[in-house]
Amino acid sequence: MNQTGARGCFITFEGIDGAGKSSQIAAVVAFLEARGLKVDQTREPGGSALGEKLRELLLHEPMHLETEAMLMFAARREHLAVRIKPALEAGSWVVSDRFTDATYAYQVGGRGLDAAKFAALEQWVHPGFQPDLTLLFDLPPAVAAARVANTGAAPDRFEREQRDFFERVREAYLRRARAAPERIRVVVADRPPEEIRAEIEAIVVERFFR
Ligand code: TYD
Repeated sequence: MNQTGARGCFITFEGIDGAGKSSQIAAVVAFLEARGLKVDQTREPGGSALGEKLRELLLHEPMHLETEAMLMFAARREHLAVRIKPALEAGSWVVSDRFTDATYAYQVGGRGLDAAKFAALEQWVHPGFQPDLTLLFDLPPAVAAARVANTGAAPDRFEREQRDFFERVREAYLRRARAAPERIRVVVADRPPEEIRAEIEAIVVERFFR
């Protein structure tokens, strides 16, 4: 954290598909802006012009699982270079819908790829750099799947995965939270949105403004 105003803070949101991150991201951005902060809201995969093109491929184009993994990191490399780092250095806060924890959850936990390879990619793409705070939305995959189905939108490559995939993604996220409890805060996500919003504001205040 930096309260001198020299550098902004980086907050990420994580969780399985259908966890309900989107409305809470908008709320936290509004909360920070109301405190007079400049906030850049972004997402992964995506967040840069090239990254958004890679997102289209990642969500809809069939590909080898390792291609998927490396494209996630390629999109992230670009996102860091053209958006996240410049914004933080200019004193803006950055709020991202997903970052590297999603790769460990989906590609390592869900897809079953070797974590050691990702440690190497992570070390290459963002050595020594982590979010200042990560809010992990946790809920049973059955509840999340019902929410995704209710949107009526055509499911992407990830949303079409079966329940056991999301069980593994959820467990991988929770393992990461246990390994980094200071950074990753678990938010129970099958609760009324107002309760979740109040809890998140309390976490942000405790972490950055006290
Ligand atoms: P998301 O933006 O949450 O999807 P939506 O627009 O449907 O709310 O995330 C897109 C998908 O990409 C999501 O299913 C998780 C997946 N993903 C990974 O598998 N690995 C990653 O590293 C990232 C950032 C996302």
